[in-house]
Amino acid sequence: MAGNGTSKPWTPDSWRQFEARQMPSYGNAAALDAVEAELKSYPPLVFAGEARSLKGQLAEVAAGRAFLLQGGDCAESFAEFHPNNIRDTFRVLLQMAVVLTFAAKMPVVKVGRMAGQFAKPRSDTHETKGDVSLPSYRGDIVNDIGFEAEGREPDPKRMLRAYMQSAATLNLLRAFAQGGYANLMQVHKWTLDFVGSSPAAKRYRDLADRIGEALRFMQACGINPETAPQLRGTDFFTSHEALLLGYEQAMTRQDSLTGDWYDTSAHLLWIGDRTRFPGSAHVEYLRGIGNPIGMKVGPSLDADTLLRLIDTLNPQNEPGRLTLISRFGADKIDAYLPALVRAVAREGRSVVWSCDPMHGNTVKTGTGFKTRPFERILAEVRAFFAIHRAEGTHAGGIHAEMTGQNVTECTGGAVAITDETLGDRYHTHCDPRLNAAQSLELAFLIAEGLQQELASREAA
Ligand code: PEP
Ligand code: CO
Repeated sequence: MAGNGTSKPWTPDSWRQFEARQMPSYGNAAALDAVEAELKSYPPLVFAGEARSLKGQLAEVAAGRAFLLQGGDCAESFAEFHPNNIRDTFRVLLQMAVVLTFAAKMPVVKVGRMAGQFAKPRSDTHETKGDVSLPSYRGDIVNDIGFEAEGREPDPKRMLRAYMQSAATLNLLRAFAQGGYANLMQVHKWTLDFVGSSPAAKRYRDLADRIGEALRFMQACGINPETAPQLRGTDFFTSHEALLLGYEQAMTRQDSLTGDWYDTSAHLLWIGDRTRFPGSAHVEYLRGIGNPIGMKVGPSLDADTLLRLIDTLNPQNEPGRLTLISRFGADKIDAYLPALVRAVAREGRSVVWSCDPMHGNTVKTGTGFKTRPFERILAEVRAFFAIHRAEGTHAGGIHAEMTGQNVTECTGGAVAITDETLGDRYHTHCDPRLNAAQSLELAFLIAEGLQQELASREAA
C-alpha cells in the first residue's frame, strides 16, 4: 500500500485511492451519492477564519503559553439530542476551564467533542448475541444502536440528520458562548455549589476561594462582565473524529479568502487510533485540509512511524496545526510516552501534547458494563504531567469523554459509583463518560499538575 507521499496532489477526494478502514459499506450506492451531493449544497457549519483562529490559539499551547481543554460525548446520539444536555456539558467545560485558567495562569482553549461527534470506530465488524450476528453499531450517523437487522444496515440519510443536529447544537453553543451564559461570575458560582456538595470539598475549597477572591478584587477595580467583554463571553470551538470520510468530503470547501481547503463540519478534526497508520485514507484526507487537526497516539505507534506521520500531516512544522492525543492507559503510559515525547522534541517538531485518559482505561465489569475506574483515569493524568515535567515539555491539554448529566458510567470519584450502581444511569451510546462531578474533580487534579509545572519552570 502506498504511503501518503506529499508528492501526489491532494484533492478533497484523493483519500479514495487509499486504504479506508472503519468505514461502513452502504448497500445502495445511488442513495449514498444523492445524500453526499445534497450535503455538498448545504451551508458550511464553521468558517475557515474560525479554524485559523483556533490554530493560532493552539500555537500558543504548543509554545507552552496556553492549555487545551477538549471534551464531550464519546458519541452524540439522535436520542439524547436535547438543549439541556448541550447546556450542561457546555457548563461543566466552562467550570473546568475557570479552574484551569486560574491554576495555570494561562488561557484555556475550549473545544467541545460536540456538534458532529457521531461516527464511531469499532473493534469488531459484527456484534453477536446468541446465534444472531449483525453489523456493529457505528454511530447514529451510520446506523441504529438497537440490535435489529434492519436498523443496523448503514443508511446514508442519517448523515443529513446528523448535519441538522450539528447545526442546531452549534447554534446553541454559539449563543451560550457569546450571549451571557458564559459569564465568569456565574460560572464560578456553579463551581462553588459543586464544592459545597462534594464529599471532597475541603481539597477544592482553597482553590475555589482564591478564584472568588481574585474575582472580587477585579470587581473592586471596576473589571466586571459589564466593563470587560472577556468576562462576559468566551471562544468555544467544536471537534469530532473525522471518520466518515464521505461526509467530511462533502463538507470540504475552498476558503474564498485564501483559496485553501477547509473541512467546515467542525473547527478541529482528529484521526482515531485505528485509522492513523501510514497509507491510511484518513491520513490522506486530513493532510490536505487547513483546519487544526489531532491524532490519537496509542501503544501500537512507534517513534519512527510517528515522525513520518508528522511529516505527512504537518510538513511545514506549523505551530498549532497538530495536536497529539496520547491514550495509553495508566499501566502503559510510562513505558510508551517518554520515547515519543523525546523523539518529537529531538526532531524539533512543534506539537500540542494532550492526554486522553479515557480510551486506554476501559474495562468490563462482572455485571457486563463497559466502565472506566476513575482512579485509573487520574493515574494516567498524573503520569502524563510527571513525564512532561521530566522531559521539560509542556503538558498541553486534556481530552475527556464527559457529560454534564449525572450519569453513572465510570466507577469511583468522590460520590463513589460502584460496579453495582453503574446500571442506575448508564446512558452512553458508546464509551463510559465522566459525569459532571467527576469532570470537575479531574479539573482540580489537572490544576495541581499545572501548578507543579509552573513551579518547576520558575525554579529552572
Ligand atoms: C474516541 O475518541 O472515541 C476513540 C474511539 O478513541 P481512539 O481512536 O483513541 O480509540
Ligand atoms: Co470513546
